[in-house]
Amino acid sequence: MTDQPTYDSGLVAHGIDTTRPSVARVYDYFLGGKDNYEPDRELYRQIMKIAPEAPEWARANRAWLKEVITWLAAEAGVRRFIDAGSGLPTAENTHQIAQRANLGASVVYIDNDPSVVAHGRALLLDNDRTQFSAADLTKPDEVLADPAVAALLAAGEPVALVMALMLHHVADYEETKRIARAYVDALPPGSFLAITHACKPGDGGPVDELVTELSAKVTQAFPDLAFRSVEQISALFGGTEIFQPGIVRLAEWHVPGGRVDEEPPVDVRDVIYGGLARKR
Ligand SMILES: C[S@@+](CC[C@H](N)C(=O)[O-])C[C@H]1O[C@@H](n2cnc3c(N)ncnc32)[C@H](O)[C@@H]1O
Repeated sequence: MTDQPTYDSGLVAHGIDTTRPSVARVYDYFLGGKDNYEPDRELYRQIMKIAPEAPEWARANRAWLKEVITWLAAEAGVRRFIDAGSGLPTAENTHQIAQRANLGASVVYIDNDPSVVAHGRALLLDNDRTQFSAADLTKPDEVLADPAVAALLAAGEPVALVMALMLHHVADYEETKRIARAYVDALPPGSFLAITHACKPGDGGPVDELVTELSAKVTQAFPDLAFRSVEQISALFGGTEIFQPGIVRLAEWHVPGGRVDEEPPVDVRDVIYGGLARKR
């Protein structure tokens, strides 16, 4: 007899549970990723019935991430990044984007999904300016004490903290604000905070209707998922100053000082909003 996990039991190496969907794997499947199992694909299919444009949301989020990281590394001169809730490695990861703009950029990735931990560590083995911390972001004291995170912050240089599609996985709103604020308080002056978040605009329009249906389905698998209003998402930036254009759907967002080239489409059912801010 052995108590080693086997594929048949639904558990594979590193404690990965293949019997239930994982946020990281479902999201990665929307991006065309390969690290997924039948429960992930089943949830994907159910989401697609409600929101066939969902893969666009995932792609828009990654495009936003690329734009933000590139601007931070190339224009704002940031050399230290924390990608909190990093997800599975995908086509363009934060360290690749940042190091393309600035070879000396360092990145600490944080995630607590066992699939992400396994693949993230493997990807980063060959990059000595990149580290991966397996940690629960709802516990800022533990995260901030992590040696890689503590070392990144200790230099006192501005850091960019990215929490893309992560904070909406904390159900309690006051707790979510406390978590975000604990990280902001620990950042050196001049640091940046970049957030994307699932939004329910609250205007009774088509996106509200979509979110009601989507949320009812997705919270069956992920009970902590919380769609929030623009005001609530804005308040997660406490302790910072949000750059223009503020907290907007990603199609409307642009880098500080950037010009919007064309009118964003108005008839799109966007549910992901984001923004960038700076701590004085
Ligand atoms: C939807 S994915 C987003 C991935 C990536 N940030 C992006 O925007 O492309 C959310 C990620 O947050 C991670 N996550 C959620 N709650 C977390 C927590 N409490 N601690 C650490 N990671 C968490 C999940 O494991 C998942 O990988």
